[in-house]
Amino acid sequence: MSSFLLFDRPDIGEEEIEAVAEVLRSGWITTGPKTKEFEQRLAEYTGAKHALALNSATAAMQIALAVWKIGPGDEVITSPLTFCSTAHVIVHLGATPVLADVSPDDYNLDPDCAAGRIKPRTRVLLPVHLAGLPCRIGALLQLAHAGGLKVLEDAAHAIGAQVEGRQVGSLGDATAFSFYATKNLTTGEGGMLTSDDGDFIEQARIWHLHGMSRDAWQRYTAEGSWRYDVLLPGYKNNMTDIQAAIGLVQLGKLERNVARRAEIARHYTAAFSQIPELIPAPAARGGDRHAHHLYMLRLKLERLRIDRGRFFQELAKRGIGASVHFIPLYRFTYYQQRFHWHPEDFPVTEAIFRSAISLPCYPRMSQADVDRVIAAVGEIVEAHRA
Ligand SMILES: Cc1ncc(COP(=O)(O)O)c(C=O)c1O
Repeated sequence: MSSFLLFDRPDIGEEEIEAVAEVLRSGWITTGPKTKEFEQRLAEYTGAKHALALNSATAAMQIALAVWKIGPGDEVITSPLTFCSTAHVIVHLGATPVLADVSPDDYNLDPDCAAGRIKPRTRVLLPVHLAGLPCRIGALLQLAHAGGLKVLEDAAHAIGAQVEGRQVGSLGDATAFSFYATKNLTTGEGGMLTSDDGDFIEQARIWHLHGMSRDAWQRYTAEGSWRYDVLLPGYKNNMTDIQAAIGLVQLGKLERNVARRAEIARHYTAAFSQIPELIPAPAARGGDRHAHHLYMLRLKLERLRIDRGRFFQELAKRGIGASVHFIPLYRFTYYQQRFHWHPEDFPVTEAIFRSAISLPCYPRMSQADVDRVIAAVGEIVEAHRA
């Protein structure tokens, strides 16, 4: 058997290594000129008026909620089909996460379900662009703004995605991106908060670094001053210039890499749509662009003699890594005990979760790798038809 095909792998090359070395040689290794440049370049790329570089998407979401003074008694509506940190940030601020089911069309927060969960204490809608496929952000913005709510987008998967020709990052009141190791654009760990609201980003900037009125760049450079004030009990979520240097190189590769991801997804969908036991990953609506961070294949379990767990084992036997996105929030002990959430209340999410397998889909895959995944999936289905 050929070597194990990892589920995901970052596209890091000599250019990133050189960019990091340059920062290390420069003597300025924490937040400084590279971080500022990365913020500007990312704002330009997304079309957002402002951007704040951070150390994670989690930080971006928590800071956005903090700026909006979300706290005890407030409710934030989000999707159950997301990474746990989307809900953790709400809990960290003392507010209550409220789940609304997803749509079977895009696996994202269903605007009708969200509308049904809005109550007088609801302050924010927090949709996710799962897998890089844009959610129905237009409908969600309309719903939110009609009720005086804010929209914070969890775009951890969605740098490069577009809605009706506009980049994700320039749509909602605020958008959180992740640059974690496996994301479409990586800085190892990292994130970005974008918004058109300059006051909001200025507040976020204060929150992200201890609540200080000046960052190190403003204090230690020739034009700087040692004086600073502390305006609020802020966090420690700044991005370093080492990370930003990687991010700048990665941003230059992003369009090419999203195109390669799209090509892989096209091959998968062309193959899997011929197999009646499979549901290929959903495509973007006309006019939108999928960022193809993940390829979420679904199994029609009633047509197979094996369950999802065995399917994984069969893939592993053939040297192919896979994953599941995500274990829904209502299945975790903490959230069940604290908020009494039950799978029966989220039938669409539960059906997706039970049948989903994320397949390798990343720019470093060769065409032979893609063909190997397609052949393996086909072979497993063939051997286990009901
Ligand atoms: C949907 C989603 N939201 C948020 C996050 C958190 O991102 P970060 O690790 O940058 O905090 C992730 C990370 O994988 C994610 O997949």
